Amino acid sequence: MIEDFRDKTAVITGAASGFGLACARIAAARGMSLVLVDVQEDALERARAELAGAGVAVMARVVDVASGGQMEVLATAVQQRFGAPHLVFNNAGVGSGGLVWENSVAEWDWVLGVNLWGVIHGVRLFVPVMLQAAQADPAWRGHVVNTASMAGLVAAPNMGIYNTAKAAVVNLTETLYHDLKLVTDQVGASLLCPYFVPTNIMDSARNRPQAVAVQKPTRAQQISQAMLEQAVSHGKVSAQEVAQKVFAAVEQDRFYVFSHESPRALGNISSRMQAMVELKNPIDPFAQAPEVGARLRKQLREG
Ligand SMILES: NC(=O)c1ccc[n+]([C@@H]2O[C@H](COP(=O)([O-])OP(=O)(O)OC[C@H]3O[C@@H](n4cnc5c(N)ncnc54)[C@H](O)[C@@H]3O)[C@@H](O)[C@H]2O)c1
Repeated sequence: MIEDFRDKTAVITGAASGFGLACARIAAARGMSLVLVDVQEDALERARAELAGAGVAVMARVVDVASGGQMEVLATAVQQRFGAPHLVFNNAGVGSGGLVWENSVAEWDWVLGVNLWGVIHGVRLFVPVMLQAAQADPAWRGHVVNTASMAGLVAAPNMGIYNTAKAAVVNLTETLYHDLKLVTDQVGASLLCPYFVPTNIMDSARNRPQAVAVQKPTRAQQISQAMLEQAVSHGKVSAQEVAQKVFAAVEQDRFYVFSHESPRALGNISSRMQAMVELKNPIDPFAQAPEVGARLRKQLREG
């Protein structure tokens, strides 16, 4: 829980676009010093220039969050310039689709690297220094926000790598919440689970490293990409609204942050959990929109 953000420090990964940039804008408006982290240099420079114009201290670093070594260098630089960060937003992520047996090892490495290892590195490198700061000063407050996805809470087909990474982030972050409670009341944790929100996530391939061979996408991967573009671009909640929810959660020490709180959106989670505890087989993830599932099955079966 952080009540007053002024003159505190925020480390934000994936800060050059989408939720990261929207959170950076709010953090700047609240007078926080910013550490902007992203792998896309041109977009990061634009974000740095914009936010420096807001009159707050800004440190921008090109870092691949999947790299333990690069994240260690980042953590040292943050410590030297700002000391322990108060808000750490482990948010960088990439999307990837296709039937779960189709993806190459390189693709698993890339998506798990950014979406899961990025969060792991953020937690392992920043939480210990936050705890030290908390121990040194009983008034010190810090908060970690990790971005997962609704995909980590329901298992939509044709996007298995992404689901796997996000489910792991859900569990990692719930465990972080409990572990923090064991040792302190001064550092909290929240989990951001967006549904479909218009950002640049559907263009994740722009940051695909050269080492991840670009093969000809399979039919299922093409369909997944088209569905993602359709769903994300038609999302009715903006990245800015999601960022406002993130800050409200940090202020109020709320753990779960959903972009969409309608019974329709959250109902997918409860029906899945209900089926599990009733020992039923997994429910149809398209139960709320059966026409989408029917179209997907038809497209894939007709080859
Ligand atoms: N937009 C949605 O509908 C949606 C839904 C659920 C979850 N999410 C999650 O939200 C998070 C933010 O995504 P977004 O929607 O704002 O997309 P976005 O593409 O607009 O922003 C993601 C940012 O992460 C950066 N990034 C990618 N790989 C990186 C790496 N290896 N190291 C450092 N930075 C890297 C990108 O350059 C980009 O600036 C992601 O974790 C994503 O999975 C998004």
